Amino acid sequence: MELTAPGPSGLDMLRGAPSMIRDPLGFLGTQWRRHGDVVQFPIPNPPTYLVNHPDAVDRVLRANHKNYGKDTLQYRRLSLLTGFGLLTADTDLWRTQRPVVQPAFGADLVPMVEKATHAACARIEWPEGVRDVDADILRITLEVVGEVLFGADLTGDAADLAEATLSGLEVVVKKSSPLSAPMWMPTPNNRQLATAKARLDRAVRELTATPAPEGTLLRLLQDGADPRTVRDQVVTFLVAGHETVASGLAWSLYLLAQHPTDASSAEVFDEALRLYPPAWLITRQALGPDEFGGIGVPEGALIITSPYWLHRHPATWDDPEEFQPGRSLPRTGYVPFGAGPRLCIGRGMSLVEAPIILDHLRQRYRFEVVREVRMKPEVTIRPVGGMPLRVSRL
Ligand code: HEM
Repeated sequence: MELTAPGPSGLDMLRGAPSMIRDPLGFLGTQWRRHGDVVQFPIPNPPTYLVNHPDAVDRVLRANHKNYGKDTLQYRRLSLLTGFGLLTADTDLWRTQRPVVQPAFGADLVPMVEKATHAACARIEWPEGVRDVDADILRITLEVVGEVLFGADLTGDAADLAEATLSGLEVVVKKSSPLSAPMWMPTPNNRQLATAKARLDRAVRELTATPAPEGTLLRLLQDGADPRTVRDQVVTFLVAGHETVASGLAWSLYLLAQHPTDASSAEVFDEALRLYPPAWLITRQALGPDEFGGIGVPEGALIITSPYWLHRHPATWDDPEEFQPGRSLPRTGYVPFGAGPRLCIGRGMSLVEAPIILDHLRQRYRFEVVREVRMKPEVTIRPVGGMPLRVSRL
């Protein structure tokens, strides 16, 4: 195996294995601090690199995106739940899918998102006391996805679907281990995944039983895609469209509880996405050789980028660990929604939806921390044990 960049030795990896499994996010940070902005792991197949410099990440995701595909373990595992929808599709499939769904994300979307989000907020009625705001927010964001993208009222199903999503995603993460059992074995993990998929599939069947309203994403899919693709896209958008926004909102409330501020809700959300980027890991496969600041990577390399660590890079940020809403956001080095052609299609929707929800909550409630909430880097950065906050009315 040719080594082209500094990195841990095989022995270091062996010694570090327990911490890598327990805390993969912390492990990546340690390797970056120890070895620099391009780290090579002693893994021959595929040659594996962590890339954590604003210019290098911009090169992978945007400037030289043609050299990178999404056929990586991360997206193959996610596809166990979502199938090959827009998020997990490799380049060729993605090229055929994106034009089908893109029209649903035009200017008309903004008023639809505003209306659905205000309606979902109007259903929030929190008594005073300690509550797991994460569970509530997951429900709210799922209701918004249902209304906006599928023209469906998911109010009665939201809690159940949110739980099925989390349960499915939990297994996706466990299945990323090379030691995980093959899918046909009836292990507890495989059964958990099958149950989650069955619940999501039932939701898809119910959603697609009748034609969705004109102009919605679902209607476009129903008019232009085969049933398998419709299933995969609906599950993709159900999953990708609510859990990410909910994670960003839960951490926003946690930060606000610790550091009350007059900053706008949009600024608070931007800064929460910097400190706790829900998509903490973005991977690519190098289709040909490339180079980052003089360090070469070969064809076939797995490139790991982590918005979490990029958002702490001293080349871009002063006092990166400080919560400072209102920071100016750089063109590179801030990638909570990714960058380049595979930029999150729901970015605009999220940036309308999340501040409305935050405004609604901040105008009515005060939040206090009841305990330290640790992060669990699953498919998104989840709060361990939910997000319990003491809620009092203003
Ligand atoms: C704060 C909220 C969100 C965050 C942090 C987020 C993050 C991301 C990131 C980082 C990517 C790029 C992944 C990559 O390059 O490999 C992505 C892609 C995607 N996101 Fe989001 N997302 C959010 C909200 C949403 C919403 C609301 C939707 C649905 C409307 C959505 C649907 C998707 C889809 C379908 C893709 C794949 C796009 C493509 O490849 O064409 N996301 N998201």
